[in-house]
Amino acid sequence: MKLTREENRMLEGQDGQATRKAMEILVAIGTIYGADQLLPVSSVQIAGVSYDNLGEAGLEFLAEMASDDAKVKVLTTLNPAGMDIENWQVLGIAADFALNQLRVIEAYTKMGVVPTCSCTPYLFGNLPHYGEHVAWAESSAVCYANSVLGARTNREGGPSALAAALTGKTPNYGFHLAENRRPTLTVQVQTILTGTHDFGTLGIAIGKAIEARKIKDIPYIRGLPGASMEELKSFCASIATYGGLALFHMEGITPESVLYQAPGNTLTITSNDLEAADRLLNEPQYADQVDFVSLGCPHLSLQEIARVADLLKGKQVTKTFWITTARPTKRIADQMGYTSIIEESGAVFATDTCCVVSPIKGRFKVMATDSAKACYYAASKNEFKTLFLAFDEVIAEALK
Ligand code: F3S
Repeated sequence: MKLTREENRMLEGQDGQATRKAMEILVAIGTIYGADQLLPVSSVQIAGVSYDNLGEAGLEFLAEMASDDAKVKVLTTLNPAGMDIENWQVLGIAADFALNQLRVIEAYTKMGVVPTCSCTPYLFGNLPHYGEHVAWAESSAVCYANSVLGARTNREGGPSALAAALTGKTPNYGFHLAENRRPTLTVQVQTILTGTHDFGTLGIAIGKAIEARKIKDIPYIRGLPGASMEELKSFCASIATYGGLALFHMEGITPESVLYQAPGNTLTITSNDLEAADRLLNEPQYADQVDFVSLGCPHLSLQEIARVADLLKGKQVTKTFWITTARPTKRIADQMGYTSIIEESGAVFATDTCCVVSPIKGRFKVMATDSAKACYYAASKNEFKTLFLAFDEVIAEALK
């Protein structure tokens, strides 16, 4: 791989040991994937923030990188942490976990990372434009950046994203190259979809069908008259979870779809496929045992919070109900009066975190949510049963 003088200087350790280590990581990845050079990136999104996932070894790695006075070279935002940074006691988080989580955040902020603690960085300032090269981790955000925004990123891991942040570079391979972004499979949707639940269900159906083909297809999806930002973020989270996809094109909706013709191979998705996908996550036999309700995977937008406030106004929830969102979004919700309406109902904001990365295993039995991704991890990580419902139905469940 050909390196510039500046990159060689970083590799030799002239910018400090943490930057040297970062360059070594990038050169190793680039060599494995056959990159010919490093590309400048304009932003980074770092995952691997929850102490629940990082553990002591991860925290030590971060502390070591931060101890070298290394600073990020581009706008860098953070994925959700394992708790609400300001109100962790309200969520029942143990004090020793909180202490370690705060050490993680401290290490990142020391390096100049903005502690947004959210998987929707594109909603508040980390918004790359079409064709821009970035280095993002967090599968749902990566899929959103590539597909909905038309930016270019591979699916980074925690260390490679941090390495990109400290150097402002990423290896030139994978989705950074135009030839790897062409669609390979037409997906014809023959049913009507509405809301985050339906788009999540579509992500399961397409993701699983592509997984079964054992080819890393890039779908060109047709037949959808439109999709809101909230529906697209739900779809991105779902198709990334169930199909491992980091890029799709949607005819008339996503920006790169105009560059391509629909490929010859076609997969058809009908209402039967969506019903089958829904049945995978929905366990109605546990409907009378729901003890945990969560909205906000991916993190809720302001419009979604407004809808929650509208439906909870003047009512009381009967179960633990987490509203998960980013702190910048919550601040606007505070100003708009949505927060007080929601909190008066007994629901709680789980800002900076989510029901997947927070250490809640063993605390609940059955979770209701509109998120296909949250259902996947509720079952696999936390061993919860799940009710997979439409957005408004989730709120009705919390009030039952
Ligand atoms: Fe975001 Fe947590 Fe879901 S990181 S996409 S809310 S699993």
